[in-house]
Amino acid sequence: MTDYVRIEERGHILCLELNRPEKKNALTVEMYEALVAGLERAEEGRFRAVLLTGAGDSFCAGNDLRDFLDRPPTGQASPVYHFLRSLSVTPVPVVAAVQGAAVGIGATMLLHCDLVYASRDTVFQLPFTSLGLVPEAASTLLIPRRVGYGRAAGMLLLGEPLTAETAAAAGLIAGVSDDVLGEATLRAERLAALPPEAVRATRALMRDPEREMIKDQMAAEATYFAERLRSEETRAVMRGFFER
Ligand code: COA
Repeated sequence: MTDYVRIEERGHILCLELNRPEKKNALTVEMYEALVAGLERAEEGRFRAVLLTGAGDSFCAGNDLRDFLDRPPTGQASPVYHFLRSLSVTPVPVVAAVQGAAVGIGATMLLHCDLVYASRDTVFQLPFTSLGLVPEAASTLLIPRRVGYGRAAGMLLLGEPLTAETAAAAGLIAGVSDDVLGEATLRAERLAALPPEAVRATRALMRDPEREMIKDQMAAEATYFAERLRSEETRAVMRGFFER
């Protein structure tokens, strides 16, 4: 287990904090494993909400690019996919507080959270194609379904950034706040105070219709993703990031 993910129990709420602020909470293999362990713990009956946050000035700069070069995911058994699957099927509602940069999987993981609050300075970015990659987390399915194909094409094909206000107006997140942690904490507490079985059942009813499609899309994306990561064009772009 790594200190880069802090797990804390607050009554019925399980808090998961990405805690690698010096690297903008870029996610390593170990961090995915720690997040999976956290989500497994959250499924213990006493927890009624997960609060997901990132330490420092940015929520998450996506997958650690050094890891992509040195320890690339090879297929669906890889920790990154284990994490995405766990997040997408967890029965517990997930509230997220987001600030600063939310890049790559730092943005797409939020599609599997229930209530996402972002600070005004948040910029969501999906620079997959410019890195030579394809998007993941079933974002190629979910973003067109959520915002329409036209806007999704700008985000996913061109990697056009999205402000917090635009994301909220498009219905991708629940709201924008000047006190994002306070706002998210309040909502997690409200969820935890509600009859838990009704909350879980309502959430399942909202999510179940897309469940199989999400699973299939994640599998299709993973195949392309692994291929792309092995390509020289992609590896050259990533090496370039560290030579800035
Ligand atoms: N992987 C590895 N290291 C990363 C990283 C990532 N995804 N994102 C940021 N870092 C590191 C930087 O290398 C830097 O490390 P250093 O201080 O040892 O040089 C540190 O985090 C701070 O990043 P920096 O780029 O200086 O901060 P910034 O505020 O100028 O920019 C970002 C923040 C998130 C916009 C920028 O870091 C970025 O674009 N990161 C890459 C995002 C990305 O492509 N993710 C993968 C998507 S699939």
